Amino acid sequence: MGKGSGYGKVILFGEHFVVHGVPGIVSATDAATDAEVKKTASGITIKDERKGSKGYAEEKKLQQIESIERMLKSMNMSTDTAMSIWLGGNLPGFSGLGASAASSVAIARAIAQEFNLKFSDERINEIAYEAEKAYAGNPSGIDNTAATFGGLLWFKKNMTGGPDTFEKISIQKPVEIIIASTGIVANTKAMVEGVAQRKKANPQKYDPLFKQAEAVAVTGRKALLDFDLKKVGELMNENHRLLQEIGVSCKELDHLVEVARNQGALGAKLTGGGGGGCMTALTPGKELQDKVASAIEKEGFQVLRTKIGVQKL
Ligand code: MEV
Repeated sequence: MGKGSGYGKVILFGEHFVVHGVPGIVSATDAATDAEVKKTASGITIKDERKGSKGYAEEKKLQQIESIERMLKSMNMSTDTAMSIWLGGNLPGFSGLGASAASSVAIARAIAQEFNLKFSDERINEIAYEAEKAYAGNPSGIDNTAATFGGLLWFKKNMTGGPDTFEKISIQKPVEIIIASTGIVANTKAMVEGVAQRKKANPQKYDPLFKQAEAVAVTGRKALLDFDLKKVGELMNENHRLLQEIGVSCKELDHLVEVARNQGALGAKLTGGGGGGCMTALTPGKELQDKVASAIEKEGFQVLRTKIGVQKL
């Protein structure tokens, strides 16, 4: 049996903008997806035991099948290769947490082990990027890069097809954040297409917003390196405003952002594709993290307490 894992991720700066070449900042989460793959006599079977939003696995089923086909093609394997795939791990299947990329990396690693293919992490990342196209249409590559390599990363898509740029960002010490799920399963592909269409139709509005998103990412990196958490939080708030302007937030996300800020979070924004999915808030210290998380949980939402900048990831 072959086994593999992929990290979940939380985007601190730049989702959607990264698809168009603007830099972004992403952190892997300590929660990960695990996969096991076994050769069988015929067909591909998938047993998905990930915990998550109601309907997540069902909603993503067709995209998951397409992603596995894409993955096999990218590995130069037949799409009829018979195998059973099991998915589990402690990363919840919430939209926005990079669950699809985490599962693609986990499955690619497990297939490689079961079929004795020696793939480097770079190759696994490429394969997972191909698989991500099934979920995101035209992905930037930020999710699969975080799922493969982990860490806190500066990421910039190569717009001419070459390798993307990414670099680890080291911060003074890990910082508590929370990730809250709206419980709404979102379609990343539709969200990414929507932004591309609106950007094309209205460059006068969108071009300046993309410039501002670039400035937010550049200043955000400096604030992280300076360990100026107040500034990081302010920039997260600014990033949320830009995401609202490009039409990817929704009332549930705006509500979670407001609750987090009212409870003292230094900053809060949607994270990932939006249109549902997740919100993240910067809550340094266990006490603040618990306060913000509990207030959101009291309203019936699920919350993940985690940290950014953990060295081992
Ligand atoms: C999804 O986690 C992030 C998006 O920017 C899509 C992508 O970058 O591939 C919305």
